[in-house]
Amino acid sequence: MKIFQRIKLILFHVFKSRNTFGFGVHSPFLFHFTKFVLNERHHYYDFGKIEHLRKFLESKNELVPAQDFGTGQQQNQTIANIVHYSLSSQKTSRLLYRIISTYKFVNVLELGTSLGINTAYLASASSQVKCVTIEGNKHLAKLADSHLKYLGILNTTIVSENIDDCLSQVLQKFDTLDLVFFDANHRSTPLINYFNQCVSKINKNSIFVVDDVYWSDDMHYGWNLIKKHPAVSSSICTQRFGLLFFNNDLAKNHFHMIF
Ligand SMILES: C[S@@+](CC[C@H](N)C(=O)[O-])C[C@H]1O[C@@H](n2cnc3c(N)ncnc32)[C@H](O)[C@@H]1O
Repeated sequence: MKIFQRIKLILFHVFKSRNTFGFGVHSPFLFHFTKFVLNERHHYYDFGKIEHLRKFLESKNELVPAQDFGTGQQQNQTIANIVHYSLSSQKTSRLLYRIISTYKFVNVLELGTSLGINTAYLASASSQVKCVTIEGNKHLAKLADSHLKYLGILNTTIVSENIDDCLSQVLQKFDTLDLVFFDANHRSTPLINYFNQCVSKINKNSIFVVDDVYWSDDMHYGWNLIKKHPAVSSSICTQRFGLLFFNNDLAKNHFHMIF
């Protein structure tokens, strides 16, 4: 059933997407963002070694015990399956890397680590990055830790707990948040709850990225609600994820684009 909801939402999105490549985007900041960050495709040295590890994990049939965080999905999965179905695409991870390196972001939070492949992109974007990532499944957190060590990435802390229980404590360690990637619980109630906690740490340049905004009607409802939060100045919604901006100098605008 969910697949039909997704197809319907994505078709509707494609129909509404008129601003891809910056057409009709009048804000100089968002025009620059669209043209030179969102749609840029430069290959950085760091990408090669991370993708080499992803390729290696694609062939691993070791089972990872499941942990349910309220979705009712409790099936053990092989590492190969997790790589295929749960990780952010190269394209999305590379965008996050470009955002961090372009805007010289330091304080980065990821909700939902999984195998740590996307985390590796976040942490490699700059040696100045202080990256915290939260993964409630202890087995995955352990694997992610070994993957980051293998890649020589030392600027990341993995918190292996349920986000519902640890987020407020984790946030106390940040004076401010530059980038947050919401990629854990794909339901509106936790999304809204996590957003409301993280929004207390924004600065003028913060960018929040919410993955899978078209996952289901419920997730789409959550996305539509948080983008109306008074602190949000503008948003860009793509068929994969949504981006939230908080700079009050930007005119309030909500764009639909194809990524
Ligand atoms: C989609 S995967 C994350 C993928 C990763 N960010 C990437 O891009 O490669 C979501 C992860 O969030 C974890 N997760 C879901 N709900 C959680 C919760 N409430 N607390 C902690 N971890 C959670 C799951 O165990 C899963 O590994």
